[in-house]
Amino acid sequence: MDIETQKRHAATRALDFIRPGMRIGLGTGSTARHFLVVLAEQVRAGFDVIGVPTSETTRADAERLGIKLTTLDETPELDLTVDGADEIAPDLSLIKGGGGALLREKIVAAASAGMVVIADESKWVPTLGRFPLPVEVVPFGFAATRRAVEATTAKYCAAASVKLRCDKNGHAFVTDGGHWIVDASMGRIANPKLLADQLAAIPGVVEHGLFIGMATTALIAGPGGVRVVERP
Ligand code: A5P
Repeated sequence: MDIETQKRHAATRALDFIRPGMRIGLGTGSTARHFLVVLAEQVRAGFDVIGVPTSETTRADAERLGIKLTTLDETPELDLTVDGADEIAPDLSLIKGGGGALLREKIVAAASAGMVVIADESKWVPTLGRFPLPVEVVPFGFAATRRAVEATTAKYCAAASVKLRCDKNGHAFVTDGGHWIVDASMGRIANPKLLADQLAAIPGVVEHGLFIGMATTALIAGPGGVRVVERP
């Protein structure tokens, strides 16, 4: 079974968690896009839900698919967010931000009573860190902020490297919030909570891609079906 089919299976299973009238955070990325498609089918069949998109891309996709949208300013409390992830550990801590939407994704997830993560099984890892950790930073003072991120990540991995994310033209990738992203390769993050706190304390860091204690359920799709994992 190919990866896209697995992603679609995870996304379809997430519909079991949706009830009429729900206010839903709509994630970003290819797996979350599958969820938009299956949710839109339900909406066309008469299902009444409203969504808050976590990126401009998701906003455009949801509008095209006919999903009713709101904002956190109009609707500050959501029932559930459904989103993908770059890595999922057994305690349901996550690395997110491979698509660059981590800031809005975290704000929306934090405003939600629950968070269902949908993924193919390649995202399931025993320990976070194989995927480079995205850290969103303000462009002002970039070199100083990057040095501080390097110093922090070096405490966890002597060989850590911190690279500015670039677009296909070699320019700094700019997030929906107008910020830049550095990707910190560490191989393995021994203490994600401590690292999260230390990164968040760096002036110039807007947000990082460690989502700890946010996901309530993970739906992990593999060739044998979709595994449901609840946060311990
Ligand atoms: C977007 O910023 C990310 O957090 C995505 O949720 C993550 O990169 C997963 O994307 P895919 O579903 O495309 O793998």
